[in-house]
Amino acid sequence: MAPEGQKVSLTGIKPTGDAHLGNYIGAIRPALEMASRFESLYFIADYHALTSVRDRAQMTSWTRSVAATWITLGLDPKQTIFYRQSDVPEVFELQWVLSCVTGKGLMNRAHAYKAARDRNAEAGLADLDAGINMGLFSYPVLMAVDILIMSADVVPVGKDQVQHVEYAADIAGSFNHLFGDVFSLKIPEAVTPPGESGRVLPGLDGRKMSKSYQNTIPLFAPEARLRKLVRSIKSDSTPVEAPKDPDSSAAFHLYENFAAPEDVAEMRRRLEAGGTGWGELKNALFEELNTQLAPLRKRYDDLMAPDSEIDAILAEGAQRARERARPVLAGVRRAVGVDGL
Ligand code: ADP
Ligand code: TRP
Repeated sequence: MAPEGQKVSLTGIKPTGDAHLGNYIGAIRPALEMASRFESLYFIADYHALTSVRDRAQMTSWTRSVAATWITLGLDPKQTIFYRQSDVPEVFELQWVLSCVTGKGLMNRAHAYKAARDRNAEAGLADLDAGINMGLFSYPVLMAVDILIMSADVVPVGKDQVQHVEYAADIAGSFNHLFGDVFSLKIPEAVTPPGESGRVLPGLDGRKMSKSYQNTIPLFAPEARLRKLVRSIKSDSTPVEAPKDPDSSAAFHLYENFAAPEDVAEMRRRLEAGGTGWGELKNALFEELNTQLAPLRKRYDDLMAPDSEIDAILAEGAQRARERARPVLAGVRRAVGVDGL
């Protein structure tokens, strides 16, 4: 058992595409670091992905890809309970119960829903809810369930998910207020990576790296594609000789998160002095990424094969996750009065 024994770290990643450098820096790397200090539960949030994925082949392949990514990057399934959300039906039963104690107004203020409405407004649509399904609207309730059903203390996520983690505490409070202290009074805490650039890793176009913007660098892209993607990172046209502001550059922010601190300091000095072009920075970034990721590609590809050990790992994880979820759900059923007549 982990040294901080009773403390539980939990996080989920949606299978909405192949995992990318931003997922690694924002969620996977900190979560793996925490797995040695906390009791850890990490999962694939496939029913969250269903709000947008509408293709069986994509759902299955991305689910496998997210699982293979975690294992490749060092998740030890003996140490961590690693499971697929949809394998734990207790989660969905609790989701209904918690929906019944969650104010609709809280969901109206959730940022993912608000952003979807803003996009409709920008597009000039009269119906601001056009194209928004109930799954997206009630997304934060399902996320609260993920957290509460496993009694998580800390939730390593990127900054964009902090509001959702705060909602979990609100929703637990509403339930307890109505039905008694069923959920432990601990407030789940979002843990985001430290530092300005660590918070949100930029993508190829300088915006947040995100599958939704199609501006990602996938973690296990083959070498030639990795090189091509790194070369395509947006940069300005400052001439090679001119001094440059490293902090204005997406490539530099990426470099900062992967290279050794002394190499980052040296690169900063050279860019600021002038005489070093953005192309040179991108070459250094490619070399750094490729050195770190090349040895992992084969392992990832092996795990992606249909008969790999992934299936057995997830089956075992599902069993262990359900064992934890069952008593929590039983307590909730008892509290609301649906456990017998
Ligand atoms: P995406 O935006 O690509 O769809 P997800 O929403 O699936 O990514 O995010 C999975 C996890 O990775 C979350 O904890 C999220 O905060 C983190 N994450 C995603 N993109 C980034 C990024 N560019 N920088 C830092 N963390 C990120
Ligand atoms: N909503 C998270 C995301 O988009 C994924 C997620 C689902 C999650 N359930 C969770 C993260 C519970 C942490 C805890 O990235």
